[in-house]
Formats: sequence, C-alpha cells, structure tokens
Amino acid sequence: MKEKGAKMGILTPTLFAETVFDIDFSMLIKKGIKVLIFDIDNTLAATSVKKPSKEIVEWLAAVKAKGFKVCFVSNNSKRRVHDFSDGLDVFYLHRALKPFTVSFLRVAKKYNAKNEEVCVIGDQIFTDIWGANWAKMMSVLIAPLSDDEGFGIKLKRFLEKVILKQKFMVIGNPVRHSVSPILHSEIYRFYNINAKYGKERVEKEDIRRLIEKYKKVGIRGFNITVPHKQNIMPYLDEISEDAKKIGAVNTVKIVNDKLFGYNTDGAGFVAQLSCKVENARIKIIGAGGSAMSLVNALAAKNPQEIIIYNRTIANAQGIAQKYDKVFARNISEFSPQDCDILINTTSVGLSPNVSESPISNLEGISKDTVVYDLIYKPPITKFMQMAMDKGCQAHNGYKMLIYQGIIAAEIWFGKSLINDELVDIIIERLENEV
Ligand code: ATR
Repeated sequence: MKEKGAKMGILTPTLFAETVFDIDFSMLIKKGIKVLIFDIDNTLAATSVKKPSKEIVEWLAAVKAKGFKVCFVSNNSKRRVHDFSDGLDVFYLHRALKPFTVSFLRVAKKYNAKNEEVCVIGDQIFTDIWGANWAKMMSVLIAPLSDDEGFGIKLKRFLEKVILKQKFMVIGNPVRHSVSPILHSEIYRFYNINAKYGKERVEKEDIRRLIEKYKKVGIRGFNITVPHKQNIMPYLDEISEDAKKIGAVNTVKIVNDKLFGYNTDGAGFVAQLSCKVENARIKIIGAGGSAMSLVNALAAKNPQEIIIYNRTIANAQGIAQKYDKVFARNISEFSPQDCDILINTTSVGLSPNVSESPISNLEGISKDTVVYDLIYKPPITKFMQMAMDKGCQAHNGYKMLIYQGIIAAEIWFGKSLINDELVDIIIERLENEV
C-alpha cells in the first residue's frame, strides 16, 4: 500500500492499494481508524458477480477480528446490495448517492465514531474518494476489479487517469538537449505506466524554490543533470550510500514530501557491460564525475585492479584512495597492454571535436580488450575507431545512458524494468533524435 504522492485535494485518496487484500491494516490501526466503509462493485467483487467470493468472506471475518467495524456503502440498487450482503452480518446502505456524504455520516453516527476514525475504501475517485475527503474521512483507492463498465464509468475512469498521472522531471542547466524525456516516455509506453516526464532549466540559487514547487504539485521524482548533481545534495532528506560515496546524485524520489537521493550512473554502466568484471584488469581514462561513478560500481564487482589515468593526477588519486585495488596514474604513463576493459570517461572526441582522442595511439592493445567510450555523439568516436582498427570490440555510451535511466525508473516504481527489447526500442528512438 502506497502513501499518496499527487496532490489534487478533494480528489486524492489518502492511500493507494492494488486490491483490498493489499491494504495495510496495522497502518490504519496506527492512524486511529475504527470503522471501515467498503464500496461493493469493483472493490469487493466485479459488478457481474452476485455474491462475495470465499476469499472475501474469510478476509472480511479476519478484518472484523482485528476490531474494525465493517460496513458496505454502495450507490447500487437495494437488490444488488442486499443480495451481496445477505448472510454476512455486515451493516449496509444502498443508493448512497456518493459523493454526497450523507451515508458516510450515517455510518459514523451509528458506530459513534469521529469522521477521522472512519476510512472509506473504494475504486472510484468521483464517488468514494471525493465523498470521503468531503466528510474529512481517510480513504484508500484500489484498482477496479473488472472492466465491464458502462460509458459513464469509463468516462470517470478516463478523468481519474488524468488526475492520477504520475509526473517526473529532469532538471539541469542547460537541459534543452536532454534525451531523458524521450527515454522515460518510451519506458512508460512499453510498460503502460500512467506517467509523464518533463524537463526544466534551473539556476543553482533557484533549486530550493523548485523543490518546494515540485512537492506542492505532487511530482514523484526527478533526474538531475549537469551542473546540479552536487548542488542538489544539501536539499535531500536521505542520500544512498553509493551517491554519498560518489558525491553526486542523479535521481531523486519524493515520498510524503521527503526527498531521497540516488546515483544510477555506475549501476547503469555495469548493467550494460558485455563482459565480466570479476578478476578483470580495468583501465579508465579521466577522473571526473563519470569516472567516479564507474569506479564505485566496478570496484564492488571484484576486479583484479582498476587503474585511473588522468592529466591531473590529484583528481585520479582523489578517487583511487577511497577503494582497494584502485590506482592513479598520469595519463602520459598510459599503455593499453594488460587490460581487459578500457573505458574513456573524458569528453575528448565529443562532437564537434570528432577527430580528437584522449589517447594518441593504442599500439599493443590486445584484440580481446573490450573498449568503451561514454560519448555517444558521434556514435563511433575516434577512440572507438582506433580500438576497432586493432580488432577490438568497442561500444559507445548509449547503453549506459539508457540503463541509468531505466534504473532510475526502477527506483521510482519499485519494480524491475530492464528488458532487452525496451533497450533496443530506446536506442532506435535516440538514434533518430540525437
Ligand atoms: P564528467 O562529470 O562527465 O566525468 P568532468 O567532471 O568534467 O566530466 O571530467 C572530465 C574528465 O575528463 C576529467 O578527468 C578531465 O581531466 P582533469 O581532471 O585533468 O581536468 C578529463 N579531460 C577533459 N578534457 C581533457 C583533455 N583535453 N585531455 C585529457 N583529459 C581531459
């Protein structure tokens, strides 16, 4: 059962649950709830089902045994409600005229309960939830059980969908060229998730105000891109161990007005790797933010060693000292031998400087070395071409970009979303856009 995220006042339930069986009753007890009002149709049974199932009957008995007063309040006819409730020893009201509160208030009075001690559980925002909020009662919105519904209800469902659409953002400066909206829209389309994703440019000094706005309008989460991956950190309530160690946050989840920060860049790189890291000899060129996230994720996978080559040795040392078996070298000492995985994390070779490479030659590289460039524009960099000319497999940064985004969505939706077909769809979309 999830606490509410969106803020639409009168139409927003206090809690969401997939089915009545998913309701967390210990939480309701903690919140002081004594009376439960259930809608019947599509909440306890599909509209076409006349009697409650054995599971529902047993479950209702268990709910009552927890000490709750249980009753049914339905807008349906006397016959429907009577037939459904017959033999259950449950108080019920038919033709309740929800969202009008008259029936809810009658129930509260019958059980001598204050309105805030009553919780309404139903599948419809415009009757159950609206009515509960109007009466200042708690409410739980559950997913409807069947779709054999008439036009009126279909229309209501459509409006509910618009109201419940989850919203996410990417913030940065500049943010105009961010491909995150395309990437995330493809994830939502693939999994049929009712969500949308936007982008917003923000100056450092406006971050606090932006966060307040996001809380107010019910944004569920956002990504952070250059230059705010560090700037966001003072505003977060909690930061994951990885993000703390990396010193940068690229994903924020908002739950009950609290901000939780994560960094998915390193995990994104590791998730897309086509070779194993355990016992591998890894060489990384560059010692900026991307190198830091990569080292953090790779070092956790038991490589034989990681050597960071950078023109400013102090930056490489700053990363290396935090980990075992990670070493810092000046870029002038670079040699491509004795290396299983070689990664460029610098921006050298990025469009429009496509003829540049961070390393002038890869003489002596084994063709078994797997080469990565985090750049994806152009799709084949000079560095990758040099490796391919020596017979190596070379990959650009597309997949890392995509996987870090999918992993961010996994954090927001709390389920695994990585899927090869989805990745291919996104690559094709991005290749046409970038
Ligand atoms: P990101 O966050 O994408 O990693 P960054 O923090 O700006 O970007 O880091 C860029 C890295 O590329 C740095 O390690 C930088 O080297 P310095 O630490 O010496 O600044 C490296 N880099 C940038 N331009 C370079 C160049 N022309 N030659 C070699 N290294 C370069």
